[in-house]
Amino acid sequence: MIFLNNKLVPKKKALISVFDHGFLYGDGIYETLRVYKGIIFKMDEHIARLYRSAEMIGLTIPKKPDEITKAVNETIAANRQKEAVVRITISRGPGPLGLDPSLCPKPTFVIISNRFRHYPAAYYSKGVKVSIVNTRRNYGPALDPRIKSLNFLNNVLAKIEAKNSKSYEALMLNYQGYLAEGTISNVFFVNKKGILCTPAIKVGILEGITRGMILDIAGELGLKSREGCFRRNDMYHAREVFITNTSMEVMPVTSVDSVRIRGKAGRLTAMIHNRYREKVSEYIEAYNK
Ligand code: PDD
Repeated sequence: MIFLNNKLVPKKKALISVFDHGFLYGDGIYETLRVYKGIIFKMDEHIARLYRSAEMIGLTIPKKPDEITKAVNETIAANRQKEAVVRITISRGPGPLGLDPSLCPKPTFVIISNRFRHYPAAYYSKGVKVSIVNTRRNYGPALDPRIKSLNFLNNVLAKIEAKNSKSYEALMLNYQGYLAEGTISNVFFVNKKGILCTPAIKVGILEGITRGMILDIAGELGLKSREGCFRRNDMYHAREVFITNTSMEVMPVTSVDSVRIRGKAGRLTAMIHNRYREKVSEYIEAYNK
């Protein structure tokens, strides 16, 4: 079942207008959430980012935060999913041709939930390959990467490049050549001094919720971390590399372009991922109390 505007409808009946400005212009926003044991992980943080994205494109979300949470819970219950990945999409809605948002009085609100499919275990033990692609991350003043928008062509073009080089994920540089992020992930690396490094928000990236948790975890574990401006070469000389997002959590990277970083997942990467999983368990326990 799909939650469409105000109710659950069967998948086949979950249809929207060809005049929807989400379809015509990529005008809208979204969030991807992970559900563990029937509980939505970090819902407050995702809701906050959803409202922030909406504000940044001048869109009024047609629901209150608690109504959204209720709708997500209804959707996962209707689909009998305890382990799921949920996508909330809000588009500008249907309206005549033309860019003016006021042509669309009623935003379209959609929740899709899919059963969580485990990534192959080898991805976590052996790590994946990534490519630093030619497609640059959107220039902030043109389209701010902090907006989690439906306008994803920048990332799609990068993904095509990654696929052509048989890589799992594409890493994009920003317009100045600084390392930015993946098409659907943030990136971290451990440098030669053992410092955990990740591109700063000001480079022009999405402020990942997982990314924030990893920085907190680094602090808890007593690891030095640095948010900054890094270059392609920093990746090639890294001791460990990993990518993060809500559904993959912490994914080790063992090759960058043709450079082999290491033979298997790194020690710090595994330590950070274990702590992440503990935090998920603690969250679920606290929720059930
Ligand atoms: N993607 N950067 C980009 C461009 C992203 O699209 C995402 C998330 C992230 C990581 O954010 P978070 O840790 O909050 O999931 C970084 C989601 C998973 C998606 O596109 O479905």
